[in-house]
Amino acid sequence: MTTVAQTALRAAPITDTSSQFAADVIAGLTAKPKRLPPKYFYDLAGSALFERITQLPEYYPTRCELALLRENAPAIASLFPPTCVLVEFGAGSSKKARILLGAAATVEAYVPVDISGDFLQQDAAQLRRDFPRLAVYPIVADFTQGFGIPAPIAKLPPVGFFPGSTIGNFEPHEAARFLRHAGDTLGERALLVIGVDLIKDPAILCPAYNDAEGVTAKFNLNLLARINRELSANFDLAAFEHHACYNRIHNRIEMHLASLKRQKVRVNGKTIGFRLGETIHTENSYKYTIEGFKALAQGAGWSSLSVWSDGRFSVHAIQRMEVR
Ligand code: TRP
Repeated sequence: MTTVAQTALRAAPITDTSSQFAADVIAGLTAKPKRLPPKYFYDLAGSALFERITQLPEYYPTRCELALLRENAPAIASLFPPTCVLVEFGAGSSKKARILLGAAATVEAYVPVDISGDFLQQDAAQLRRDFPRLAVYPIVADFTQGFGIPAPIAKLPPVGFFPGSTIGNFEPHEAARFLRHAGDTLGERALLVIGVDLIKDPAILCPAYNDAEGVTAKFNLNLLARINRELSANFDLAAFEHHACYNRIHNRIEMHLASLKRQKVRVNGKTIGFRLGETIHTENSYKYTIEGFKALAQGAGWSSLSVWSDGRFSVHAIQRMEVR
């Protein structure tokens, strides 16, 4: 028998972020139905797995978006103000921003915002070497919360960039709230370039989240591995299975982790019971029509300037309306 006090003594020192992680995990696993916040996918291992997902033959969104950005970079850049700062939400790697930076000589500064700090600093260093005249100001922050543009460049007109159809990982009402907040951060008449995956045949959608090699499964299961590592939990990864299916009513891919048996798991000193087949809902990826996304943006204070699409994926340029 281990007492609570002994467990507490053995526990790793609690930092703000790890106690937030613990609180979010316990809240999600004790909710009905069980869920976990997708923002915790991206630890070092998760980010590396995600990088592999973007290169899978089945995962079309990254390839489509890169091609759309490359083919239309001059047209997109022509919408930018004469001097400006490019602000990227949830930057990860700057691969996509580089396409715009290469086409838009008028961008004076680049502000990548991401919760994963290590990656951000590494990438910023390389970017400074490749674009010596560009000022790079990485911000480590949760981009769904507010953040300030660094003082030296705060006067430049900002252009927002939100690629990857990450907007689809929000509930539609959260997506609208994000767009409203982003508009407040960027200011009146600001431009936002945003990638949005489109509603299409589930025969194309489903394999993108169920790849033959099992990388997406590993990515999903890494969330449990991370909870084991950071919250001294004892998830048996072999007793959970990755599920991804298209929900036609809500136009979203749902990712779940399904329990392959009835089992109990210890997480941060708490026991969580699972029924056979019970799932943890780990992520949604909403798909939109071009018109559907325009309407969502309009409702959040943005008007559509241009859309580029290959029929599978879309890149929108939207402009913040003036608030009267
Ligand atoms: N936002 C992208 C999408 O929904 C990328 C992404 C986020 C993703 N989480 C994922 C892709 C999990 C595969 C699996 O497609």
